[in-house]
Amino acid sequence: MMDDRSQLSAMNFLNEVSGVFPSAISLASGRPNDRFFDKLDPEVLVNALRVYERHSTGCHRSGQGWSDLLQYGRTAGIISEFVAQQVRSDEGVPAKADRILITSGCQEALAICLPALCPEPADVLLVCNPTYVGVTGAAKAAKVAIAALSNSGPSVADAIEAAVQDLRRNGRRARAIYLIPDFDNPTGRVLGAVARRDILQVCARHRLVVLEDNPYGLFRYEGDAVPPMAALDQVGSVIYLSTFSKTLSPALRVGAAILPDTIFGDAGVCQALWDDLVQRKSFVTINTSQITQAIVAGLLIEQRASLRGWIRPALDWYRANRDVMLRQLDSVFSPLSDPIRWNRPSGGFFLALDLPFRFGADDVDECARRDNVIVMPMSFFALDDSQDCRVRLAFSAVTPEQIRTSVTGLGRYIERRLGGKLPGLTGGLARG
Ligand SMILES: Cc1ncc(COP(=O)(O)O)c(C=O)c1O
Repeated sequence: MMDDRSQLSAMNFLNEVSGVFPSAISLASGRPNDRFFDKLDPEVLVNALRVYERHSTGCHRSGQGWSDLLQYGRTAGIISEFVAQQVRSDEGVPAKADRILITSGCQEALAICLPALCPEPADVLLVCNPTYVGVTGAAKAAKVAIAALSNSGPSVADAIEAAVQDLRRNGRRARAIYLIPDFDNPTGRVLGAVARRDILQVCARHRLVVLEDNPYGLFRYEGDAVPPMAALDQVGSVIYLSTFSKTLSPALRVGAAILPDTIFGDAGVCQALWDDLVQRKSFVTINTSQITQAIVAGLLIEQRASLRGWIRPALDWYRANRDVMLRQLDSVFSPLSDPIRWNRPSGGFFLALDLPFRFGADDVDECARRDNVIVMPMSFFALDDSQDCRVRLAFSAVTPEQIRTSVTGLGRYIERRLGGKLPGLTGGLARG
């Protein structure tokens, strides 16, 4: 179906596979689960608009009435105060409203931040390998060069140091790094507090801005939260990217880029960056929909600035799904645990499964056709061939029953590829 992964984006490819094999269960999609959208039925949405409108007209005589919301609006957005309160209370990020740019989802924040941070041809954005396809796509669209951090060194900080030096030798300059420290997409990895501090140190030394993307941070299933890098930042090096896509709904298309007070101690540089970002946004989307901004703000007013209570049922559901997936992986693959390994993510929507063979686009097809399961090759997120023997499994958008069935199907596929038998699968399972 897809011979060259550069021909189609990973997302288009997977949509195409789902269209061709509609009965296959998809562990490829990291969407939030639809079942929680009942909480946002039309009455709730309208009520949220009314709450915002009442609050706004009550606070300022010149507040946002209904007709104002239907107009073009302020480019930087109209709900920064509410977003500042929410990220402060839920995520511990020291956000100030006048440094919050409301964006059309986090994706727009990426699209405008990358070229602003890397304006010169010699400038380079550092990324992990693998990383979120949205950042590599945004960099490509903006013609921003990217360099992958090596996975062979002892730490991310060491890999950054090595990449900076390497680029310097080649006349290039690392200007920023994109990171998902909490429950990384695609690997599920969390960076510990020490790693975060070390990264901040090396970034400060080389004046690298950190783009900290945190769509999954509130979905922690166990253990203590690690402070966001934006909370650990003491020099003004972190731009924090926030979104309501996973907590409320991706259809709202509301996210934010939250700047520090200064960039490396310089308030003027920060102001210039802010002006640049606002100008770029004005040429991309003019402003984020005021209707959906008002819905988000109305919900935040009702939730008293914290979404922790709102997401509780979803959090419990995702945690249970993760547990079902881990149990099923264990029962299907533990007899072969040597060549097949997976991680236990402490939050988020994804885990990574290591295979003893390459798994690419053609294999997605075969697995969907014969075994009724669609999984995401990790190579789709990679900048080299180091991820060719891995897949990403998402457990957010499926039911526990679908997880059991699909992991069993994946086991059948892997059994065939290995040309042997998985003890857990022998006997009773029909071949697809
Ligand atoms: C790591 C990461 N960043 C950004 C996004 C896009 O978020 P938004 O819907 O806010 O544009 C996603 C979506 O899956 C994501 O996984």
